[in-house]
Amino acid sequence: MTVTGKARIAGVMGWPIAHSRSPLIHGHWLARYGVDGAYVPFAVRPEHGADAFRALAKLGFAGTNVTLPHKLTAFQTVDRRDAAAEAIGAVNTVVVEADGSLSGSNTDAPGLMAHLIASAPDWRAEAAPAAVLGAGGSTRAAIFALLAAGSPEIRLSNRTGAKAEALAAAFGPKVTVVDWAERAAMLDGAGLLLNTTSLGMTGQPPLEIDLTALPKAAVVYDIVYVPLETGLLAAARARGNLAVDGLGMLLHQAAPGFAAWFGVAPAVDDALRAVILKDLK
Ligand code: ATR
Repeated sequence: MTVTGKARIAGVMGWPIAHSRSPLIHGHWLARYGVDGAYVPFAVRPEHGADAFRALAKLGFAGTNVTLPHKLTAFQTVDRRDAAAEAIGAVNTVVVEADGSLSGSNTDAPGLMAHLIASAPDWRAEAAPAAVLGAGGSTRAAIFALLAAGSPEIRLSNRTGAKAEALAAAFGPKVTVVDWAERAAMLDGAGLLLNTTSLGMTGQPPLEIDLTALPKAAVVYDIVYVPLETGLLAAARARGNLAVDGLGMLLHQAAPGFAAWFGVAPAVDDALRAVILKDLK
């Protein structure tokens, strides 16, 4: 697709930014839908984040995705935020409105939920407790998403217990904290096991957890997608649990921004997944 003088421009702002797969995702959709637009990496130094966000409207850009280290600056700089961004404390998608003001959202939470629903159609948030490992930024998004979807109880375990306690205090009594050493016990009766730690990622130690107590009907979701099949997912699949990898979350979180900037609600399908899988190899 040729870019004309009328092209809509969006991108992803981060530092470093060269590793980002967002240009591949949006580039695939731009070509597929024949959109007169471009999606480019914005390499913005940490100290220039606020200036860069304010410049979006002046440059006539449609908006931007936001990655490290700018998610908090985006949160502080935009003129309004959606409920997910408020609860998570981070903005990953900025839309320049017609009047030049900036709307910020966090699409990690809806991205996770859209992916979970698409991959595990029989799973119901309200049906059983969720067991969540971790206490980082993606954990916040996951807890917000699960509570919004009606989860009755979230059992949270993290190596550094104080971080899990802080999240539980922020999200209220449905979130309970389990000692890292006791994490296998929290699987009893759970409908979902969600890993939001970096354990199991290439170059990191494996995630060690005894799955014996986990019901066979539970879904096991690993936010890690390099490798696609983590040790956790392989172990879950071997005992009959439905195992879901984290790549879909990356793809689904991109969709709301694309729709807002380019006016087409894009499909998250196997063709898109194949594009990213090829790049991961
Ligand atoms: P993000 O913001 O992307 O979710 P993060 O803030 O870097 O990621 O969090 C990484 C998560 O992996 C944390 O929960 C971290 O546990 P700590 O809070 O104790 O640091 C977890 N993690 C990383 N390495 C770990 C390890 N070797 N053992 C246990 N947990 C680990």
